[in-house]
Amino acid sequence: SVRTKREVIDHERVASYAFAFDIDGVIVRGPETIPEARQALRLLNGDNKYNIKVPYIFITNGGGRSERARCKDLSKRLGITVTEDQVIQGHTPMKDLVPVYKNVLVVGGVLNSCRDVAKGYGFENVYIPIDIMKWKPSVTPYYTLSDEEKEAAVDADFSKISIDAILVFADSRNWAADQQIILELLLSKNGVMGTVSETADEGPGLYFAHSDFVWATDYGLSRYGMGALQVSIAALYQEHTGKELQVTRFGKPQRGTFRFAEKVLSKWRKNTLEEHVEQLGISFQKQQKTLQQQQQSSDSPFGPDSETDQETDLTSTEDDDDLEDDEDDEGIVINKTSSVLLDLPPASTVYFVGDTPESDIRFANSHDSSWYSILVKTGVYQEGTTPKYKPKQICENVLEAVRFAIEREH
Ligand code: G3P
Ligand code: MG
Repeated sequence: SVRTKREVIDHERVASYAFAFDIDGVIVRGPETIPEARQALRLLNGDNKYNIKVPYIFITNGGGRSERARCKDLSKRLGITVTEDQVIQGHTPMKDLVPVYKNVLVVGGVLNSCRDVAKGYGFENVYIPIDIMKWKPSVTPYYTLSDEEKEAAVDADFSKISIDAILVFADSRNWAADQQIILELLLSKNGVMGTVSETADEGPGLYFAHSDFVWATDYGLSRYGMGALQVSIAALYQEHTGKELQVTRFGKPQRGTFRFAEKVLSKWRKNTLEEHVEQLGISFQKQQKTLQQQQQSSDSPFGPDSETDQETDLTSTEDDDDLEDDEDDEGIVINKTSSVLLDLPPASTVYFVGDTPESDIRFANSHDSSWYSILVKTGVYQEGTTPKYKPKQICENVLEAVRFAIEREH
């Protein structure tokens, strides 16, 4: 019988289902790594009783450093290799704004961390609030730049620069100064500091990497996130203009982020399968060579018994001829890969593990029925309360979530 794509995938020991993980409150809490996270990911890397490898990605509203730096941190914390292809941060999809805006003000994070990320994305002129404070310290009367900040700031004359967009990449570390500058630009003529627009609608676009009102840290209670800053900025804008602030939001639970995540997951699943089948292919090649050698030596009285337990599923499965195996010159089976990879079906189920109902559960429940939302109790959600967005499953922690899903699949 022709094996279904799913059987082929499972047969290659890579699951047809997948996982996506939120980070803060699921994998980490501030500087702490949630203890169960390491084992949970080891299970998905194949260390499970079904000997199956399950592809997974990370989707965080966090940010403030490059995806590369985030991967390095996750790899160290979890004792595994996490690559940039597996990680989406709040501001990652903002790369799409690079061709749209020339002069951007990037807000949040520490010193040049967010400037460096934005420049890494390709933005041409990237400014941060401390540049403006260096230009005219009286912009923020109660705050004096530290020596470190003076060092990190660039010299520019903001009476001659038109800021095209304000991108809030990460949580602000100085709400007073940042809001003072953001509001001045929103109310300005074409994003030029020191000007005032009569209509208050000539300012730059305002983009947020996410809208989390609160998030889970290593403190006992949740802390204000970028969503709370948005509420504050909107209130100040309303007070000035009587109008509702228009903003563009990225991150979970936005649909745009979901579409972006689906592309990242699809690519990562192909990577995982390709790598795995290649490994199988290499072992297939080795097995072929071993079999040939045994064949030759079995003609002589000293050769090992030609029947070996090497005759494994790769060479003996009855269905192989269903996927016309076309061998390249090294004899590595490649068509099995291409016939599966070319039209790899979407994941049968994507288990999304999160701690914040308003962002994570809403995100997983809203855009595609194949996503299965699992809420854990190690972050924002507090046991005994009714989550505003109902998850399909509630688990103690990420390890229990992974165990639950694997058992559900098998
Ligand atoms: O600043 C990030 C925080 O608001 C939540 O991050 O990983 O839980 O989406 P995460
Ligand atoms: Mg979280």
